[in-house]
Amino acid sequence: MASFSRFCRIFAGAQMFRGLVPVARTAVLLLAVAATAGAQQYPNTSFNYTTEMNEAVTHLWDQLLFWATIVFVIVEIGILYIVFKFKARPNSPDPKHVHGNTALEIAWTAIPAVILAFIAVPTVKTIFMTQAKAPANALQVEVIGHQWWWEFRYPQYGITTATELYLPVGRPVNFKLNTKDVLHSFWIPRLGGKRDLISNRTNYLWMTPRDSMAMKSLNGSCNEYCGSSHANMKFRAFTVTPEQFASWAAHQRGPAVYGAVTPQSVPAATPAAAGAAATTRSGQIGAALADAAAPAPVGFIFPREKLDPSSLPSATPPSSIGFTAGLAGDAERGQKVYSRSSCIGCHKVSGNPMSAGVIGPNLTHFGSRYSLGGSLYENTTENLVRWIKNAPAMKPGSLMPAIGNGEYNPAIKAKVTMGGLSDQQIADVAAYLQALK
Ligand code: CUA
Repeated sequence: MASFSRFCRIFAGAQMFRGLVPVARTAVLLLAVAATAGAQQYPNTSFNYTTEMNEAVTHLWDQLLFWATIVFVIVEIGILYIVFKFKARPNSPDPKHVHGNTALEIAWTAIPAVILAFIAVPTVKTIFMTQAKAPANALQVEVIGHQWWWEFRYPQYGITTATELYLPVGRPVNFKLNTKDVLHSFWIPRLGGKRDLISNRTNYLWMTPRDSMAMKSLNGSCNEYCGSSHANMKFRAFTVTPEQFASWAAHQRGPAVYGAVTPQSVPAATPAAAGAAATTRSGQIGAALADAAAPAPVGFIFPREKLDPSSLPSATPPSSIGFTAGLAGDAERGQKVYSRSSCIGCHKVSGNPMSAGVIGPNLTHFGSRYSLGGSLYENTTENLVRWIKNAPAMKPGSLMPAIGNGEYNPAIKAKVTMGGLSDQQIADVAAYLQALK
């Protein structure tokens, strides 16, 4: 009997500590949240005040956390009090049985109802705010999800691009979200406002990047499982000044001109001078680009030294894709190979009349991008030649087929023979694509 009561004491003690486990767990969680909130060294944190969208959501979160903390503390104090006060002691009598307590029951119904009201009012207000129509002066960006890459169109500027998104600070941007295939979800954590892309439906999401967000490179991703390369469906957003955006847009809407703009910023304040500098190099592509009367493109490309290290992909191609070392690509030759290859069935290069496909990413200014393959790989020659050679081996499920001679093409379950490209031809095509600034 004595050993039984001892067991009961130990049991009561264990119960007491069990009550402390959620306390400790929550404390650790709260510390983790506090450590990540707003910290610059966490490039993908969503606790930000960078747009009115995430300010509203973060403010709502703070309110919920406030009420939840009060409830948590009261409940835990109550639990600890009961555990200590009423734990079994040697020879303690059976507890008194009670049945019903009207006052208590009304209290524990009314108090949660009041708390829910306190939570519901700001929640509903925030929902209405985040679902409201975008301001009339908003920059319109059509976001189209594809398995597995992002297409971005700027209808007000006549621009179609992929994988990299330029956003001016201080101006609302209205994202129009559609998918070409399955469900995807669009999210730039630092700007807030994750939203789904749903088949046969258009969703909208708008926000205004604050002026303090100028010259940031931000990671974006897909957040709805969409197939084998869901995790490889990334993108990058560049927040730039309105002048830089205007310069970028003026350049992007024009046709491809290779060698015209080096990947450095061109001062927007003197577009005439920049345009003059841009025309000093020759090397235009095809007859469509020979129109000397067309204004020279003025470009802004996000400067490499300003890139957040987190926004450059670090994936490396599988070693199974070999490539002849030391081949020098020739852009002129590459343009001819490209224009005769199967590439043109899926890709568009504005200014190259042969290349008018719309299934794959628009490559008009491919050379000005930092990444390729759905932002999975850095846009380097080493990565690009392997990507052209065997894209499905670099991104599972890639709709882009293997093109290198002798490579295994999973789409047709056979090695590439007819129409495949040699390493030299691939090096030339890569030189051409990377010259498309
Ligand atoms: Cu697209 Cu997940």
